[in-house]
Amino acid sequence: MKKILVIHGPNLNLLGQREKDVYGQTTLEEINQQLQDFAKGQDVVLNIVQSNHEGDLVDRIGDAKNDGFAAILINPAAYTHTSVAIRDALLAVGLPAVEVHLSNIYAREDFRHKSLVAPVVCGQISGFGIKSYLLGLQALIGIIKV
Ligand code: DQA
Repeated sequence: MKKILVIHGPNLNLLGQREKDVYGQTTLEEINQQLQDFAKGQDVVLNIVQSNHEGDLVDRIGDAKNDGFAAILINPAAYTHTSVAIRDALLAVGLPAVEVHLSNIYAREDFRHKSLVAPVVCGQISGFGIKSYLLGLQALIGIIKV
């Protein structure tokens, strides 16, 4: 069975308490549960991690192929807009990846309009709340099952 690595970036551990008007009431645990429920019906295994540390995320991405993952679903959170290292790690590992955001980053502050990650992933889904993750996972499963 194919394995997908799901990565949540910084501050996403605070979902449910954090800027609820922007990110909603759903906690990270609830998002993860919904992702796991969806994956069960799709014959894929999810390994879900969250970190507030850029280097941890770079390590996880860089090791993903050797760790047996077929694809990566990632919400790089604030590192979307700043991290050359995460972008380079995605390029280096060469696995299909989809970038997701709960909020519509293009409808927010100017500094969020640029994603350093977007050019090196298969696609980006932004602005659908928790559905962004489910849509991203669905897209990724479609890519690895082809
Ligand atoms: C986010 C959008 C980012 O700009 C922000 O820094 C986040 C969350 C989102 O899911 O909407 O932490 O990635």
